[in-house]
Amino acid sequence: MDMQFIKTLGSAAIAAAIMILPTSSLASGDRPAMLAPLGPPPSPVDNPTTPEKVELGKMLFFDGRLSGNGAMSCATCHLPDEGWDFPDKISLGYPGTVHWRNSQTIINSAYYKKLFWAGSSKSLEGQARSAARGGVAGNGEDDMMEAKLAFVPEYRKRFRDVFGDIWPNVRNAYRAIAAFERTLVQTDTPFDNYMRGDDSALTNAQKSGLQLFTGKAGCAVCHNGALLSNEKYYNLGVPAYDGWNDDALAQITFRFELYAKGVTEDKYRKLKDDPGLYFRTKQVADYGKFRVPSLRYTKYTAPFMHNGMLASLSDVVDFYDRGGGENDFAETKTNLLKPLGLNEAEKADLIAFLESLSGERIVMDQPDLPSSEPLPAPNN
Ligand code: HEC
Ligand code: HEC
Repeated sequence: MDMQFIKTLGSAAIAAAIMILPTSSLASGDRPAMLAPLGPPPSPVDNPTTPEKVELGKMLFFDGRLSGNGAMSCATCHLPDEGWDFPDKISLGYPGTVHWRNSQTIINSAYYKKLFWAGSSKSLEGQARSAARGGVAGNGEDDMMEAKLAFVPEYRKRFRDVFGDIWPNVRNAYRAIAAFERTLVQTDTPFDNYMRGDDSALTNAQKSGLQLFTGKAGCAVCHNGALLSNEKYYNLGVPAYDGWNDDALAQITFRFELYAKGVTEDKYRKLKDDPGLYFRTKQVADYGKFRVPSLRYTKYTAPFMHNGMLASLSDVVDFYDRGGGENDFAETKTNLLKPLGLNEAEKADLIAFLESLSGERIVMDQPDLPSSEPLPAPNN
């Protein structure tokens, strides 16, 4: 039976149709065209991935020398054991600050065309630079970080071998980190194996969840393709971060970001919630919109949404079942969300399907980091 035909049926009719299908025909049924297995990561021509570059990038990812105080490495907020993000609603921030958004996983970030919750960075190379320098993240200064790398004999050697640098160039540090991140991908989840033809890769509950995902629950309208993201921006009505009501440091960071991103005085005083995409476009129509995230690896990345306001996948499914939420930006909320009327069994199937988008945890120990040494005193 043709999937298109199945899609046009109600769920009761699907159940009935499935009962009369011989198992083999169900098992080898077409895969939904709006979803796809994940292919190999890109290796851009201007920064091709090589094993030596990846090895260097891995060290730098874990090395606090790429920050202001020498201690805030990328891995501080992208903890390998915590889904390669930070387990709080809002990420840890540079000492003396908190962050103002939920930390995102690095796994599969190689595939996005725009990075960050509101898509403010175009490449992993550019993203790494803004992370190392950002006031609430690494708070580093390029010249100082470069000097710190220059005092590490092993880095001098590795930058020379990989990039031909006489002295380590900090831009190449960001290139190496990006190359490392392009290896942090997961292309063999149960979902991928199913999409490539292995019918036994998904449980029956997960297969029903997949039907809901592309059908009744409407998730694939936005979460589609191999990444399970159309990379567009929507306001779902995710409620404002609750810490902004009563946490002075969180309020200070939020004000600082408004100011740093150049909103008008009037908006600086009035905005009480993260305007998201508005920061980039300065169009009121973009208030509260965020990039559709990939749903891969979410088994390990709770809490969810740009401000971590939903604690679990079960909370996320309940949120969509209610038709999304309410925030300060009611006028820009997407009309693609409507109450879904899912029953408990359907919710459980949908969650089971979401879990099939993650394989095993990707674990990694911090590599041994090379030590700094003073340069030889000049001869006179
Ligand atoms: C102080 C915590 C912190 C540090 C340090 C930090 N990050 Fe992040 N990272 C975050 C947060 C929070 C976000 C989401 C921020 C946003 O969207 O505005 C993020 C987002 C990202 C993303 C975007 C993922 C996506 O799905 O778009 C990448 C990639 C990333 N970080 C890599 C790095 C790298 C590389 C470093 C080191 C150079 C680093 N981060 C250092 C907290 C941190
Ligand atoms: C209108 C487009 C749209 C539809 C339809 C949609 N989503 Fe989303 N989804 C988004 C956006 C945008 C975000 C991020 C919103 C934010 O942070 O404010 C998101 C976030 C999520 C997250 C959190 C991921 C993370 O890393 O924090 C999960 C899980 C999720 N969606 C699952 C689903 C499921 C399941 C459905 C169907 C019931 C669904 N989505 C339907 C656009 C959509």
